[in-house]
Amino acid sequence: MPAPAELLQHFDAQYCLGAPQMDQTHREFLECCVTTAQSRGSVFAENFRMLFEHTRQHFAEEERWMQETGYPALAEHRANHQRTLGDMDRFCQRARAGRLAMAQAWLNDSLMEWFDLHARTMDSALAAWLKQQGVTQGMS
Ligand SMILES: [Fe+2]
Ligand SMILES: [Fe+2]
Repeated sequence: MPAPAELLQHFDAQYCLGAPQMDQTHREFLECCVTTAQSRGSVFAENFRMLFEHTRQHFAEEERWMQETGYPALAEHRANHQRTLGDMDRFCQRARAGRLAMAQAWLNDSLMEWFDLHARTMDSALAAWLKQQGVTQGMS
């Protein structure tokens, strides 16, 4: 799987879904991943913690949109978010305890693989739904 910087580089072509607020959040997510992946030591642990916090808000935001619009696949989408947050939480704790190597590998490999698939499937379907509902304008 390409490193976070490569995913960010191809953002417009690969991951732009046409729902402006979601696209903005996804761009920020990848920017956080790039910053974290490029940092070392205690700075890595701190950046990973900020990435975790950003991801929590990112998922909460999507889940709120799903709830507000009665999205049919909410439960499945939320379960996928929860699995990812659970993993991220575990690696965040390891990084904070100074065990960086596995957290770095997970970020560079598994998390990017997850984002690539999740954005192209679940988030893409959600963006299409939101557009269909006419709620992408002024969506916050
Ligand atoms: Fe997302
Ligand atoms: Fe999502």
